[in-house]
Amino acid sequence: MNTCSRNDLSASVACIIDDLAEQGWSLQTHFIAPTLTHALAEECRKRAAAGLLVQAGVGRSALAVVSEGLRGDHIQWLEAGQSGACDQYLAVMDELRQALNQALFLGLEDFESHFALYPPGAYYKKHLDRFRDDDRRAVSVVFYLNEQWQAEQGGALRLHLADGCLYDVWPQAGSLLVFLSADMPHEVLPATRERLSLTGWLRRRGYGPL
Ligand code: OGA
Ligand code: MN
Repeated sequence: MNTCSRNDLSASVACIIDDLAEQGWSLQTHFIAPTLTHALAEECRKRAAAGLLVQAGVGRSALAVVSEGLRGDHIQWLEAGQSGACDQYLAVMDELRQALNQALFLGLEDFESHFALYPPGAYYKKHLDRFRDDDRRAVSVVFYLNEQWQAEQGGALRLHLADGCLYDVWPQAGSLLVFLSADMPHEVLPATRERLSLTGWLRRRGYGPL
């Protein structure tokens, strides 16, 4: 199982490459500096307070339907140029994208990401991050923003691994979870407190109908 939890970005990226090649997923517990993590959490809370986060849909954006039974998070998509913290995060993700392309020849072309806020009790049932009619999402990347998360507060991201084992990731600030989108069923368990994250996908060029 993976063991890397170093502070330096290039060392973390090297661990992610090894882990993805070996097991299809990677957890880095101190991926970026606490000051940037904190600024991203503040940005997420500010947007939520301004009413900018909306109930997430399911399916491709144009056709998305709100399905309360499947997922209960509220989201806002990131765009470049909106805030310094978000731009720094997007720059780090672009470094990761280029490193994965160089080492694993994944042909990743872009990155899409949204803030997600799960109110207490909200969950996202077991799913895959791939749409039936759109195979561009290749690598899922979830960055957590919650300081001092306690296990008894719930809210794990539960991975359903290929060998049938379950692996729970706590949404602790600074942790980055990366996995191959096509192969990893996962779910978000309900928590007793608000749960913030930046969830995103590194995408290939699409070959299916748009
Ligand atoms: C998703 C998802 C995981 C998380 O948005 O597809 O699985 O921990 N999110 O927020
Ligand atoms: Mn998902």
